[in-house]
Amino acid sequence: MALALAATTPSDSIALDVEGVSHRYERDGTELQVLDNVSLTIAPGEFVALLGPSGCGKSTLLRLAAGLETPTTGRVLEDGRPITAPNPDRILVFQDATLFPWRTVRANIATGLEARGLLGEKGHRIDEVLKLVKLEGFADFYPHQLSGGMAQRAALARALVNDPKLLLLDEPFGKLDSLTRLRMQNELLDLWKSAGFTALLVTHDVEEALLLADRVIVLSDRPAAIIAEVRVDEPHPRQRDDASLVALRRALLEELGISHDV
Ligand SMILES: Nc1ncnc2c1ncn2[C@@H]1O[C@H](COP(=O)(O)OP(=O)(O)OP(=O)(O)O)[C@@H](O)[C@H]1O
Ligand SMILES: [Mg+2]
Repeated sequence: MALALAATTPSDSIALDVEGVSHRYERDGTELQVLDNVSLTIAPGEFVALLGPSGCGKSTLLRLAAGLETPTTGRVLEDGRPITAPNPDRILVFQDATLFPWRTVRANIATGLEARGLLGEKGHRIDEVLKLVKLEGFADFYPHQLSGGMAQRAALARALVNDPKLLLLDEPFGKLDSLTRLRMQNELLDLWKSAGFTALLVTHDVEEALLLADRVIVLSDRPAAIIAEVRVDEPHPRQRDDASLVALRRALLEELGISHDV
């Protein structure tokens, strides 16, 4: 019986398939092509990083995976089924994730559960994620009473409380100082290892991509097409000065059109 139950337990992660996706926005009667025939398969539990020039369409790709947009052409699938709407299994942490200023950290994290009427059943998860992001002493603080790094950790906790199977992260550490950033990168890795979700991270930081991801994908200028893809086989914890990472960094910077002397 126990075995049968275990066999039916849903997995903690999902497979994401982007199949021949092109996407256009229309504004004032003018069309803007943003994605150009992007195809990408992410295995359950895989950690993929996306790099690309500003404005090329990275956030758009995340919004498509979150179900916030429908592609003009092509399909986006989760475990083989088309994604047609947002779903708490797929959580997007926005590029400028802001907390609700009038709600405490705890109330901010509770938002998703509250909206789905799950506060009674899953309210205990709030304390668990507060602990995960090391904010347990700050549950009753308001956002203006937090540092920038703490606010970003709270935004991450607000996503994690929903136990996402796919976590979509849009430059989550962009505004952090370099020390906090390093700490958060390690925390994210620990969370990913323990929770087992599939992760798709947009970053403009080549080093961050190489330190975290199993695979790094480089997009071209808008309309974004995939121009390079590297697999990072180094085990964690990774050292940024590891020779193979340095070589990959050089190759990726070249793909991005940046001289390797930078
Ligand atoms: N809702 C929208 N309507 C019209 N145009 C949009 C919309 N959202 C994004 N765009 C346009 O699509 C292009 C790609 O935007 P997107 O946010 O995906 O880029 P990005 O790669 O995430 O850039 P950045 O690195 O600066 O965050 C931009 O030119 C942007 O102006
Ligand atoms: Mg963006």
